[in-house]
Amino acid sequence: MELAAAQEITQIMRAAVKERGVCHLGLSGGETPRRVYRLLGSHPLRGQIGWESVHMFFSDERMVPPDDTRSNYGMVKHELLSAVRIPPANVHRIKGELEPGIAAKHYDMELKKMFPNGKTEFDLLTLGLGEDGHTASLFPGTAAVSEDSVFATSLSLPHLDSRRVTLTFRSINSAHRILFLVSGRQKSEIVRQIFETDQPSLALPASCVRPTDGFISWFFDQEAASSIKP
Ligand code: 6PG
Repeated sequence: MELAAAQEITQIMRAAVKERGVCHLGLSGGETPRRVYRLLGSHPLRGQIGWESVHMFFSDERMVPPDDTRSNYGMVKHELLSAVRIPPANVHRIKGELEPGIAAKHYDMELKKMFPNGKTEFDLLTLGLGEDGHTASLFPGTAAVSEDSVFATSLSLPHLDSRRVTLTFRSINSAHRILFLVSGRQKSEIVRQIFETDQPSLALPASCVRPTDGFISWFFDQEAASSIKP
């Protein structure tokens, strides 16, 4: 799964840079994308992308310092950013060291500045899938899933003892290409539910990922896809 996803990401990024001279890339966190990002930052894929023309964003962040092992930015830095030459000003980090509300406002303002036409038209956004159907940090039962007046918002997750900043669906659904990266048998049931749902439901946040002018590609390993009917 990882190599296929990394190759697809490379193609999308190359096409964006070729077409418009820039690629707006949004990356998700968690464990699943680690190896994909490592492949993007390694030979041969690394040399196929014009990294100096890439602007990097994040789907969400845990509110911890960037060098904390839980930091999504920290994971991307370790697996990818340390291996490629993206101008530092082009890395639009969610500042996990700040208070969540302030970090969300900062990120929202940065997105508004980078996308002045009012739509966060990422050329590519990777997303993961939680066993409860969350994606980015849009968790079922939180107000964040209904937030559509801003591009980014903050939330607390007491059950995970975690505070987050996340893109909203308004922002996610403006992406042109969305790649879901899902692995592991523990995700097979939620994948089945997502694929058997034809109506979006806030109780199943990932089902609300419906790009208005773009499309979704799913990358699974065999275990995660094991419950999908052919
Ligand atoms: C995060 C992610 C989150 C993740 C899913 C799946 O900050 O954790 O953005 O949405 O993609 O929880 O995580 P795993 O890949 O670790 O299973």
